Amino acid sequence: MKHDERASSELLEVIELTRQFLEREKLRGLQHVVMGRETWGALEAAVQKAHGSVQRKDAAHALKQLSELAGGCTKCNLSETRTNVVFGEGNPCARLVFVGEAPGADEDRQGLPFVGKAGQLLTRIIEAIQLKRSDVYICNILKCRPPGNRTPASHEIECCIPYLMKQLEAINPPLICALGNVAAQTLLRVKSPMSRIRGRFHKFGGALLMPTYHPAALLRNPAYKKDVWEDVQIIQREYENC
Ligand code: URA
Repeated sequence: MKHDERASSELLEVIELTRQFLEREKLRGLQHVVMGRETWGALEAAVQKAHGSVQRKDAAHALKQLSELAGGCTKCNLSETRTNVVFGEGNPCARLVFVGEAPGADEDRQGLPFVGKAGQLLTRIIEAIQLKRSDVYICNILKCRPPGNRTPASHEIECCIPYLMKQLEAINPPLICALGNVAAQTLLRVKSPMSRIRGRFHKFGGALLMPTYHPAALLRNPAYKKDVWEDVQIIQREYENC
């Protein structure tokens, strides 16, 4: 256990013991505890920090276990042609998760999502809304590269989607951005084209999901740039409130 984590769980233990002590004193007639505003504020901040650190540790642990499981996955034929499983990377407590389609050649070689040309554009999009790649979490519908970057087959999506669902459960982000038709249509269970579903949030469990064009589509068709910029600005505004 790292120093920060130990300090957090010790602090939570002290708080719990204090709570129990005050409950007992209340039964014995204690009616008021006087605490200055500054002390109260400092206590609240410490509790929040401790909770945040414990949550972060839990999410990171769940993602690590899941990534090890996915690393040995042979549920579909893509396991025979992949070089690396591309599980995902980023902040385990991200408030914003980007979900793409599937790894391409660069991602397959490096085992990391969105590191090729489309990935570089995604990095610029993230930075344009004043975030860093390390603030968000980035992953895909499929964890293995379809040969020749063909569109994922529906049975491949079926095999792989439980990994993504568990990833999202561990991270529990308030905001998700689905990049491209495959991600948006799979997560929203619709067949509508991107032009019909982008530009507004859709409910996804307890999160809000924004579909937008895939960066690879943007590279092929720069006319999509205006729409993507609109979509990510909506995300940026919501991000500041959540
Ligand atoms: N395209 C995707 O959908 N995902 C990646 O990781 C890279 C390119």
